[in-house]
Amino acid sequence: MKAFNIEELRLAARRRLPRAVFDFIDGGAENERTLRGNLAAFEKVRLMRKVLVDVSAISTETTILGKNAKLPIAIAPTGAVGFGWRGGDIAVARAAAAFGIPFSLSTSATASIEKIAEAAPGRHWFQAYFFKDREFTFGLIERARLAGYDTLMVTADLPVGGKRERDFRNDFSIPFRFTPKNMLDFATRPAWALDMLLRGVPQLENLAGMTDHHADTRNLVSSVGRSQDAALDWEVIKRVRTVWPGKLLIKGVVHPEDAELAVSHGCDGVIVSNHGGRQLDSEVASFDALPDVVRAIGGKASVLMDGGIRRGSDIVKALARGAEAVMIGRATFYGVSAGGEDGAKRALEILSEEFVRTMQLCGARSVGEIGPQLLYQG
Ligand SMILES: Cc1cc2nc3c(=O)[nH]c(=O)nc-3n(C[C@H](O)[C@H](O)[C@H](O)COP(=O)(O)O)c2cc1C
Repeated sequence: MKAFNIEELRLAARRRLPRAVFDFIDGGAENERTLRGNLAAFEKVRLMRKVLVDVSAISTETTILGKNAKLPIAIAPTGAVGFGWRGGDIAVARAAAAFGIPFSLSTSATASIEKIAEAAPGRHWFQAYFFKDREFTFGLIERARLAGYDTLMVTADLPVGGKRERDFRNDFSIPFRFTPKNMLDFATRPAWALDMLLRGVPQLENLAGMTDHHADTRNLVSSVGRSQDAALDWEVIKRVRTVWPGKLLIKGVVHPEDAELAVSHGCDGVIVSNHGGRQLDSEVASFDALPDVVRAIGGKASVLMDGGIRRGSDIVKALARGAEAVMIGRATFYGVSAGGEDGAKRALEILSEEFVRTMQLCGARSVGEIGPQLLYQG
């Protein structure tokens, strides 16, 4: 798969997909300030490199939540990947295994918990959304435990859906509905459209059997459904902690007080994230929220971050600010949408090669040598 950087994979995905599907992946909430802000935050901060360090041998090996990983990267959970590429969830999970990094499966994935466990080797994490029917999610958590997933993340930044206007404009919803507007759009990408017609529309397999799942198709993607439980609070985390024996993370933390609450509720870490700018528009960029969260956690738990990782240098910067690892959402989603498993692997290859090159150019030989001394303090 030919692409020199993540942006070229993004453009390749745009050429293959109908506008509605591409916009669903690419877009954010409202004015997309947070979406752009995630990228701009990395733009603002510059590196301070060291010279005359022997960087002929580099190690990117690290530990994420107590287990070895070949890179300080994990795949972020993303829903509806099958719309970008049929079988895309499995393709991304296999790519992650090939690169020795964890793969997170979304509640809204187009492959079931068990299918991923069977079809892809490697380390699997499960992302839980809580719906009004909370027992349904506890059922998914139990299935993830039985299928050998070692980490659970509860996404906390989605009490209600963000206002994703591109989806409204494009008539994009899941479960999927054909409308005159999106049919015209799909006609511009006949190969994609024919595959949907002949082989059927991908299903959110983990949600099969959920009551109310089909109740409001229009909002399901753009707001991840009116089934979402807006009453969710820390009480549910107490119960999750008692039923989940593995590592437990809260995803979507930006406030240092929430980081402290996560630790006091027995969580093993937090993911500093704003859902890739898809939820609260105008909120702080993940990279900017990171330092205060790292301080609040004070080494008592792990801090991961996601949002805006498009270059290897972004990973160096996030680690320099104290992240144990980064998660990537769109980078591999663009890759898999452009070219299936090869495309997902190309995304990871690009990021890992850039990461190594940046380390070498900075004079850092191992992940442990990446620290605040590599950031220009102004
Ligand atoms: C198309 C798409 C679908 C997503 N679906 C989910 C999801 O189902 N659950 C979740 O916790 N986060 C979801 N996210 C957010 C990602 O996990 C992650 O926080 C975000 O993509 C990181 O930003 P980045 O795309 O700039 O890397 C989704 C993001 C995208 C782009």
